Amino acid sequence: MKSKPSEDTPAPLRPTTEPPLASGGLPLLGHTWKLLRDPLGLLMGLRDDGDLVRIRVGPKTVYVVTDPALVDSLLRNPNYVVGGPLWDNLRVLLGQGVATSNGPVHRRQRRMIQPVFTPERIARYAATMEQEAQATAERWRPGTVVDVGSELFTTAVRIVARSLLEVDSLSDRADLIGSSLHTVFEGLYRRMILSAGALYRLPTPTNRRFDRALAALHQLVDDIITERRNSPYRRDDLLAILLQAREESGKPLSDDEVHDHVVSLVVAGAENVASTLAWTLHLLIQNPHQETRLVEEVRSVTGGRPVTFTDLPRLPHLRNVVTEAMRLRPAAWIFTRRSLAEAHLGPYRIPACTDIIYSPYAIQRDRRSFAQPLEFDPDRWAPQRTTTVSKQAMRPFGTGNRQCPGDHFALTELAIILATITARWRLHPVAGTDTTTKIGITLHPTCLLLRAEPRDPQRPASIPA
Ligand code: HEM
Repeated sequence: MKSKPSEDTPAPLRPTTEPPLASGGLPLLGHTWKLLRDPLGLLMGLRDDGDLVRIRVGPKTVYVVTDPALVDSLLRNPNYVVGGPLWDNLRVLLGQGVATSNGPVHRRQRRMIQPVFTPERIARYAATMEQEAQATAERWRPGTVVDVGSELFTTAVRIVARSLLEVDSLSDRADLIGSSLHTVFEGLYRRMILSAGALYRLPTPTNRRFDRALAALHQLVDDIITERRNSPYRRDDLLAILLQAREESGKPLSDDEVHDHVVSLVVAGAENVASTLAWTLHLLIQNPHQETRLVEEVRSVTGGRPVTFTDLPRLPHLRNVVTEAMRLRPAAWIFTRRSLAEAHLGPYRIPACTDIIYSPYAIQRDRRSFAQPLEFDPDRWAPQRTTTVSKQAMRPFGTGNRQCPGDHFALTELAIILATITARWRLHPVAGTDTTTKIGITLHPTCLLLRAEPRDPQRPASIPA
């Protein structure tokens, strides 16, 4: 019987169409210089050259998908695996956890972690999110200057640690995680853009700082696992699931695998959330009428009491503000895949072992998908205005078999923290703030220093627990 051709089984191949070479490459250097100097500018310009284009990075030819429908085809075809420069480098940090594994191992790991992200669980974690959001808002004092990036990172680490790992020791060390992760992400980004192999093993101050920060992160997670193994209390969290899980052979997971899952979830769960929140606050400051609408909407629903999970369905503007901030300022801006075998993507032939890039940042700012794409317009997500095009061009959590398992967790957390902070504080930029985009594994404002002024000066600075 003849099998039906599909994206997974690409035979018979159609006539080969090689994607065009992107313009602007330099002799010998190709597109490397531009990728180093202005990666966002490079990625944004590529769609003018084609739906799928080739760029030259050092000695390699890398493919970049620029069309939202082709990105969907890429992400929905499991033959394009997690690989390429981003993931090869992230493995240094994430090991063989769910974010970096492929094939049957990935399927098994995904099934294993899924139970911690059910709607019932999210509703349960929401109580922790509410507490942590309020604790953050109550910690600030009228007139003080807040380093928003590090404050929100601490909040996000505490939420993920308390929700998924039920450990306070990790959340107490959120500052150490924040600074170590910052150093590690910088080093990984450098390695992703400029693969210089042995140079990164030289004992330079930068390399030593990177090694120390990576070791500190791994040690922290090892401590948590040891602590749990020695604990007399039974828990019902991600760590308990991992420690009780069995491979198909019946063997328990190795400590290394448990370790890699924990690192993957803490890293994925904190960095993206903190960066998204920082961008959202920045966008609201730039668009005061949107901020006023948001504060009024929250007030009309809560009447001034703290925001809760059950309020969220009645806060459509809040949801649209978060969605629009994720469109215009996506924290996760670049992803890579690798083709296992020769394959097709639309009309194009993809050779085996090709690295393929796509950029949510470039796609979500493209005028072909969004009117006035550089404008912060939360109302574009009102039901009457959303279109099929904008849905395909808006995949901040990816799609297909690697779609973010923490998407509902993240949306709930973003909404609760944002509503809690903006209802309580009016934030003003101060000298030293630098809102240029800091490019790394994620995108975030370089340094967001904001002075906090209470919206309601009558309210006491802190409410006793
Ligand atoms: C604003 C917040 C977040 C954004 C924008 C985001 C975005 C993404 C994206 C785009 C992917 C897919 C990557 C790909 O296609 O290669 C992903 C994967 C992942 N995310 Fe998230 N994420 C967020 C929050 C979270 C949270 C809160 C958690 C967990 C608590 C989480 C856990 C993960 C994991 C484990 C993966 C890997 C899944 C796999 O490969 O099967 N993320 N995330």
